[in-house]
Amino acid sequence: MVSVLCVCLGNICRSPIAHGVLERKADNIGLDCQIDSCGILSYHAGEQPDLRSIKVAQDHGYDIEEQRSRQIIPADFQKYDYILAMDNANIDDLLERCPVEFQYKIELFMAYAEDSLVSDIPDPYYGSERDFDYVLTLAEKAADGLLKHLRKKHLAE
Ligand code: 4NP
Repeated sequence: MVSVLCVCLGNICRSPIAHGVLERKADNIGLDCQIDSCGILSYHAGEQPDLRSIKVAQDHGYDIEEQRSRQIIPADFQKYDYILAMDNANIDDLLERCPVEFQYKIELFMAYAEDSLVSDIPDPYYGSERDFDYVLTLAEKAADGLLKHLRKKHLAE
């Protein structure tokens, strides 16, 4: 079974949305996969996603309320097939922590979005509801592209 770990800084705004969107879309197409999310920081460990993330997700039909924030641990680098960062700063932080042999797994989530010139999903923590809406729009694009890729690569295996 293919496994995907979505990573952002706090694991309360962006990666929980990415996690929820991927989980639902994978389920919709019958792709058997394991999705999780985590943060670089431990500040919010144990907390549920930011209420603004919960709301925007809910408005688009995704339930992320049960998720709890956790910090990335060394075992994640071995365990997950895809380690997908929400922005380039997350990439730098991940590469600093990841053994060289697993660094090939670390990519930008938005690298999978088709027809998108955007590479980073901007941190909405200090932003408005509109910024959370933008995160959801980008996450859906990246998720669609990633699932297309996974279907091609892993359903045939
Ligand atoms: P996230 O947003 O990385 O999308 O979860 C943030 C949430 C909290 C903090 C930073 C970013 N923080 O510094 O507490």
